[in-house]
Amino acid sequence: MLLTGKTIVVTGGNSGIGEAIVLAAAAEGANVVIDYVAHPEETTALIAQVEAAGGRAVGVRADVSKVADVQTMIRTAVETYGRLDVLVNNAGIETRTSVLETTEDDFDTVMAVNLKSAFFGTQAAARQFVAQGGGGLILTVSSVHEDWPMPGNAAYCVSKGGIRMLTRTAGVELGPHGIRVVNIAPGAVATPINASTESDPLKMKALDGAIPLGRMAEPAEIADVVVFLASGRAGYMTATTVVVDGGIMQGSVGL
Ligand code: BGC
Repeated sequence: MLLTGKTIVVTGGNSGIGEAIVLAAAAEGANVVIDYVAHPEETTALIAQVEAAGGRAVGVRADVSKVADVQTMIRTAVETYGRLDVLVNNAGIETRTSVLETTEDDFDTVMAVNLKSAFFGTQAAARQFVAQGGGGLILTVSSVHEDWPMPGNAAYCVSKGGIRMLTRTAGVELGPHGIRVVNIAPGAVATPINASTESDPLKMKALDGAIPLGRMAEPAEIADVVVFLASGRAGYMTATTVVVDGGIMQGSVGL
């Protein structure tokens, strides 16, 4: 197993990509902390699934858009398992609103859940890594839209662009402490965030047609990359983004 005995905290861990990361990390022997803000019953079911497969997981209800909650989440992980090895800043939302439509509330919520959470999660994890010694790993899940405009999803793109720069800046600052910061940029993934697209056959046809591999990713295909990055086989990677997008970002109209 690749992650035996490592403590890994996954924000937004009870659905979508986060849920797949929880399952993959637990299957590789990690001690998992599942952060969630809603649907406690899904966290309970996920813990039962992990334990039935012989793994270890606990749930922590923490609203990662609030700094105090982020700090409590990290403290709980350390109290439960004795140390922290990996934080995955995964929680994210989108409003699918354009520059013209986005309200102040849309903007503040997206920035708080996607970017503020990752910033202060990185800070809380890094402080813990410095205190315990020996370095550590901070992973963040952004999107191809950290770099690539998505018309009609403006605040989301801005937040993901911020994550890209957070990864690079924090990676540079924290390198001397042996702390690595790596960002994963998925393309389209079959998760609740894409439910409206998946329920519309025309939109799905257009989306699949834009992806060189011809299909959305399964959440487990993103989780596999997280396992690799956390495994010790990626020890020289930091301050950078790993794109996992089936080629969508190279998009060509082929006219
Ligand atoms: C967005 C999805 C979008 C996908 C591909 C993701 O980051 O959350 O809404 O379908 O990127 O464009």
